[in-house]
Formats: sequence, structure tokens, C-alpha cells
Amino acid sequence: MTPTNRIKFQDLQALNDRFEPLLSQRILEVIQSGQYVVGEQIREFEKEFCAFTGIGHTIGVSNGTNALELILRAYLEMGRIQKNDEILVPANTFIATFLAIVSQGLVPVPIDPEIPSFLPTADALEKKITPKTKGLVMVHLYGRTAYSRDIAALLDSKGMLLIEDNAQAVGSQFEGRKTGSLGGAAAHSFFPTKNLGALGDAGAVTTDDQELATIIRALAHYGRTGSHCYTYAGTNYRMAEIQAAALRVKLPHLDQDNNRRMALANTYLRNISHPDILLPKPENLAFHHTWHLFTILTKKRQHLVSYLDRKGIETAIHYATPPHRQPAFRNSMRHRSLPVTEKIHRETLSLPLYPTLSDKNIRYIIDTVNGW
Ligand SMILES: Cc1ncc(COP(=O)(O)O)c(C=O)c1O
Repeated sequence: MTPTNRIKFQDLQALNDRFEPLLSQRILEVIQSGQYVVGEQIREFEKEFCAFTGIGHTIGVSNGTNALELILRAYLEMGRIQKNDEILVPANTFIATFLAIVSQGLVPVPIDPEIPSFLPTADALEKKITPKTKGLVMVHLYGRTAYSRDIAALLDSKGMLLIEDNAQAVGSQFEGRKTGSLGGAAAHSFFPTKNLGALGDAGAVTTDDQELATIIRALAHYGRTGSHCYTYAGTNYRMAEIQAAALRVKLPHLDQDNNRRMALANTYLRNISHPDILLPKPENLAFHHTWHLFTILTKKRQHLVSYLDRKGIETAIHYATPPHRQPAFRNSMRHRSLPVTEKIHRETLSLPLYPTLSDKNIRYIIDTVNGW
């Protein structure tokens, strides 16, 4: 591979080129409509995303972090949770999950996951439940459905909230039900690299709870509940019309894109074999996985990164430092010991995986990795 035909870790331009000229046409239509927020594009997108997810309410919002914040804030408004309540959260997640919890005056309780699922078990969650524990933010990490009957039964028995962080798994399923429809409410991210990516920041909340949906819609729009009436001290977390228009062009192709991700991941799983690499083998096929990221573990990460880079293959690390070890949490969590999470962050490496990655290039990546 020469520098001009390096295999990128992400290729957003190629991803979005597939939707031309429709994408540009739809954006031009928004420009010419003169309606840039709270218009037809967002209204129609919300309906289409409800149909896709199999859910009653979608509220299009500014990004996935804000979607999580809005859900928690609405549960506070409803009195379902109180400030300083504890919310369980997988320790191995992107920091945004933690930030949303902290932003609402709630206390994140990080739970160590298992390897190779990279997800916490019901037993691990149960051990951390105290009288102050009121909910779980379940993260469908890397695209893998984190939901299980055991976890659902545990939360039910304790009367705890189940909030899905579906930032990385839009289109994943549990027994035919889409992630985003499995708990009380779900936050979705449409950040450009996500399985369903907008052309900038965007996100959504989905729920079947009419009251929650009404409060979230109000909170995201300054707290407005009627003409000149602001019932909540809300905020502005709305999605832009241009983003909704772009998402409407791409949503009909999402299942096909996710199928391509699954095919590529299976090709990696069947063909990569190296004694120093642990593959993310799904040990149970009931756990549906749309492979937002393909993450391997290796104790010799830096060596592999440099080797692949020399061979023209870009990689990325998700993530280098776990949330509880970030300076942002130096006063609350930094000294907590979460050994599995820490091991994952030391050893994880993401290989390129996206719908436009060609068969030729994935073959080259596999041969190169096996030749390491
Ligand atoms: C697991 C997880 N949660 C939340 C978010 C936040 O989404 P956004 O970037 O749209 O705010 C992300 C995005 O990277 C994520 O990966």
C-alpha cells in the first residue's frame, strides 16, 4: 500500500458519496424552504425513526449526549429519580455516558464488564445495587446488544429504570426488537461516524412513555409547553432541519449498511488468527451485533499499531483511558479499581470496519494482521 491508497479507519466522504445526488438535493430544498429548525424534515424523520425502531415516540435532538441528559432530566421532573441517586453504568464506555449522568446531579456507579462480551453481567450489576440505586444506563457498546432477560428481570424486581445508550448500535436488535425500544427510554447518536450518521451533530430520544416524551420535547425546546408558556427551565437541544433531511436520505439504507458491517465482521472473525490477538467473538448469537466498531485485544498494541501503519492500515483506539480514570473525575472515581475495564483500555485496538470497506481491502488487512 502506498500513502495514496492507505486504508482509512473511517471514510466518511465515500460513505456519503453513495447518497449523491439525492443528499445535496434534499439539503438544497431545506435551504430554499427557509425553514431551518422545527420544520417538516424533523417531523417526518421522527415518524420514520419511530417506524424503524418500532416505538411510539421519537424526539429529534442536538446529539446523543443531550439525548441522555434529557431522559434523566425528564425522569427527575417526573419524580421518578432524585438528585444524588445512583445510576449504574458500564465502566467501559465513552465518557459521554458518564457526563450525562453527572450533569443531572446523579451519581454514576461504574460496573466492570466481562471479556469477550465487553458488557457487564446481571450478577455484576446486582452486587452494586444499594437503596439509592434507581436505574441503569445500558450501553450497547461497539454495536452489540447489551440487553438480556436476566438484566431486565433484575431491574424489574428492583423497580429500577432502564435507559438505553444506543449511540453505537442504531439498528441492532434483541429477539427481533430494535435497540432503542427495550427500556423506558433510549438515547441515539447520529454523529457522522455512527451507524446512521448525520452531516454534523444530531441525536434522538425514543420512548413509548407518552408523559416522558411530552416532557422531553418541552425540555429540548426551552421548556415550552404552549404559546408563551414555559413550564420547565428547559434548554435548547433541538435537531437542525438539514440534519433531519440528511438522516431521512440515509435511514432507508441503514439495515443494508448494518448487514454489510456484520458480513465484514464475520470475515474478520473467521480469518484473523494470531496468537497475540483476542477477537471479540460473540459467544452467543442471541446477542445481535451491528459492529459499529471491531475491537481486538492485544498486549502488544503499540507494536501492532506501528506495524499496521507502516503497511498502510489506519487503526483507532476506543478508548485509551476509561472514564473513571479521567482527570474530570479526579475527585470522585479516579482511585476506583476496575481491572477488566483497565485491561480493555490498555489493550483495545479498533480495525477499520465500515460499509464501503472493499472485499479486497479487508482481505489485505486480514493477511497483514496474520503476518504480524
Ligand atoms: C456510548 C456513547 N454514548 C454517548 C455518545 C454521545 O453521542 P454524541 O457524540 O452524539 O453526543 C457516544 C458518542 O460518541 C457514545 O459512543
